[in-house]
Amino acid sequence: MRSSVKRTALVTGASRGLGHAIAIALGTSGTNVAVNYFKGDAAAENTCQQIRKGGGQAEAFQADVRDEQQVADMVKKVGTTFGPIDILVINATGPQPMLSVEEQTWQSYLDQLEFFVKSPLLLVKQVLNEMKQRRFGRIIQIGSEVFELGNPNFANYVAAKGAQLGQTRSWARELAPSGITVNLIAPGWIPTERHHGTPQSELDTYARTVPAKKVGVPKDVAMAVLFLASEEANFVTGQKIAVNGGNTLA
Ligand SMILES: NC(=O)c1ccc[n+]([C@@H]2O[C@H](COP(=O)([O-])OP(=O)(O)OC[C@H]3O[C@@H](n4cnc5c(N)ncnc54)[C@H](OP(=O)(O)O)[C@@H]3O)[C@@H](O)[C@H]2O)c1
Repeated sequence: MRSSVKRTALVTGASRGLGHAIAIALGTSGTNVAVNYFKGDAAAENTCQQIRKGGGQAEAFQADVRDEQQVADMVKKVGTTFGPIDILVINATGPQPMLSVEEQTWQSYLDQLEFFVKSPLLLVKQVLNEMKQRRFGRIIQIGSEVFELGNPNFANYVAAKGAQLGQTRSWARELAPSGITVNLIAPGWIPTERHHGTPQSELDTYARTVPAKKVGVPKDVAMAVLFLASEEANFVTGQKIAVNGGNTLA
């Protein structure tokens, strides 16, 4: 889906994992990509190089997406490099500790809300004005299937992912008249670098519960992002699209 208009995307947390695959899919389909990262500067540069090798344009931008000033500075720098952001992919995540109710603290919830509610707010506030002026915008949140599954010992993460979905739906209704779509992709378990060391038996047990009888790969999520980011997806907003082999079928 190569657009006739040259668009610019910012993908948060694109140095590795799903963000890396999303950035490459966007970059190699003709979108300029701002590759945000936190600590992995070499990995972010690797993402950029892979995009350039595929004929695309990409630059790395370091910022902590939980920090208002850093987000503002990053969006400004992206604007200077590529122009205004048309496509915002909100993907970054920090550690996701599994904790029993007894172990959970209010801080353990705040830690997740910082990534999945505060960071989206900081980012959207920075890009919204330009999107409204141009009457075009694609805001794509990366959520999770866990909200529907209600995974135990994980309420800190599950609650934040639920809040992120609510935020998406409310923004979608509010911003639709301005030509801006807001959607959420809810992946199933998709092994990335963070899961190295997970016993194969755990992955197999999960895969057995999935109607498709397998786990996904990062490209599965990237392809869904590519669709939502396209010009053709202009009439799709406020949706949660599960990319999980049917795991949350009712
Ligand atoms: N993989 C799955 O199974 C799965 C399933 C459902 C939902 N998800 C969701 O998909 C998204 C990506 O997950 P993932 O598994 O791909 O994660 P990941 O492989 O751990 O990658 C996390 C990314 O976020 C970046 N990051 C961390 N802290 C940051 C900060 N403060 N500011 C900016 N960037 C920061 C990291 O950058 P550095 O490495 O440069 O520090 C890295 O690029 C998350 O929203 C996650 O909840 C994933």
